[in-house]
Amino acid sequence: MPWPCSRPVKHRFVTLLATLCITAAFSACALAQSAILEGERFHPEVGEHGMVATSHYLASQIAHDVLADGGNAVDAAVTAGFALAVTQPRSGNIGGGGFMLISDEKSGKVIAIDYREKAPSKAYETMFQDEDGNAVPELSRYTHNASGVPGTVAGLALALDKYGTLSLAEALAPAIKLADEGFVIPPRFAEGIRDARERLEKWDSTRKVFFKPDGSLYRAGERFRQPDLAATLKRIAEHGPREFYEGETAKLIVAEMHKHDALMSAEDLASYQPTIREPVHGTYRGYDVYAMSPPSSGGAHIVQMLNILEGYDIGAMGFNSARTIHVMSEAMKRAYADRAEYLGDTDFIDVPLEGITSKAYADELRSQIDLDRATPSSEIAAGNPLPYESNETTHFSIADDSGLAVSNTYTINFSYGSGIVVDGAGFLLNNEMDDFSAKPGTPNAYGLIGGEANKIEPEKRMLSSMTPTIVKKDGKNFLITGSPGGSRIITTTLQVVMNVIDHGMNIQSAVSAPRIHDQWLPDEIRIEDGISPDTVALLEAMGHKVSRQEAMGAAQSILIGDDGTFTGGADPRRSTSSAMGL
Ligand code: GLY
Repeated sequence: MPWPCSRPVKHRFVTLLATLCITAAFSACALAQSAILEGERFHPEVGEHGMVATSHYLASQIAHDVLADGGNAVDAAVTAGFALAVTQPRSGNIGGGGFMLISDEKSGKVIAIDYREKAPSKAYETMFQDEDGNAVPELSRYTHNASGVPGTVAGLALALDKYGTLSLAEALAPAIKLADEGFVIPPRFAEGIRDARERLEKWDSTRKVFFKPDGSLYRAGERFRQPDLAATLKRIAEHGPREFYEGETAKLIVAEMHKHDALMSAEDLASYQPTIREPVHGTYRGYDVYAMSPPSSGGAHIVQMLNILEGYDIGAMGFNSARTIHVMSEAMKRAYADRAEYLGDTDFIDVPLEGITSKAYADELRSQIDLDRATPSSEIAAGNPLPYESNETTHFSIADDSGLAVSNTYTINFSYGSGIVVDGAGFLLNNEMDDFSAKPGTPNAYGLIGGEANKIEPEKRMLSSMTPTIVKKDGKNFLITGSPGGSRIITTTLQVVMNVIDHGMNIQSAVSAPRIHDQWLPDEIRIEDGISPDTVALLEAMGHKVSRQEAMGAAQSILIGDDGTFTGGADPRRSTSSAMGL
């Protein structure tokens, strides 16, 4: 991979060494590969020195090359994060936010970087309601006020500063090159813009970036360049991350907001800071599970569901048998009901995290589950959700052989976020304000009900479902996973963990296997293709409503074997997904 900036000598030497070692390890690697492939239907990528799994092959290649060039997993993750902002603007971003888990085996520490967006300081509880107090989804989704203060640039820079060896300019260089020189458009990219056309072409600034000068659509196979985005990334490379918050880029964001009478101000940008948090920790059948703490609900509820499911012999009950799906659905319903009631930004409210993630509470919830009958959601709690759901956000997992592993999920919420590009800066603004409860008790775009805990308050972070997860075995990094998918993120990630631990699947099988989802409301189990009609009939006989819908999530994942072999699973639900080992 050609680099636009010269690499430090140290890295070039390490590359040579790595190449020699990789050559020497080739026969061992080939052996490991054949052992893994024997008798399997799905084949993971195999690596002896590291693994990257992202939703875009260009980002995977770039992250792979950072590792091959002597960089560590955090260097590769930050570089991939910026590259995805160029190659996959529907969810990769600098105009949004997210969460990164970093596990450092040497110190035994797992840290969580919270770079979630924040509400502007002038935000107020009823800002997305009409005069009669009804929530107006158009306002929280497709306006300038739909955008929270972006956290991605500060979050990725913080990760690099704490654990990386590259400079920010080095980590940005491949993204700048891709934005400057362009890349060949894959079919998924062209289709995404075509599908969102109506929303995107409404705004002059967005039309300028995503459509040809005559207003027509780009086609797959053509080259896509983003000069404004390249200039923004160059400014950040030259002046550091605060440029985004206090420099020319901040000025462009504020001008965009002023032009549309929106609330976000220069002070909001200047005061934005990411936060380092303790991840939520739980155990599942002897494995240590670390996942994102509030303001994401992901960690609390993946641990809660695993605690409930630990009481059943899931392996013996069988993968996606009616009995297994039944208990999974019952666990999911109870977790999502608690999510609606209790979860929000812990900087503003008390979340009973210890209780939600305790084994004792899981025992109590499990005791309410009838093995032969579905519990109607109305017996758990009540609500009236909307059906619309988006499936965006993006996740990547990266691990190296120094014991560092990164699980990162970030987003601008919907596909292309609010659909609004910051004029002159070339990037899309998020519409994450829709993840607050615009009116407590009213569902957001994912049909998720929020309570008082997630009401809009100045400078508060909106509740998320993002679930970057790292599972450790005997103190060593074992499984690195996570997913996009709105409300389905937590259950998708749950199933990758169960597929590996309960069903002994290799990582490619674990991410490819058909998934189910139940979020309490609507009261139904959502299933992908691949669950048999007999199984559906058995579930219906227990009282479940079952709804077959499109694929859920894209869980780019890594598994590390006892012998240190890395295997990567790229999720086939995204045509551009790619895992690469080295
Ligand atoms: N915007 C989706 C999430 O954060 O869960």
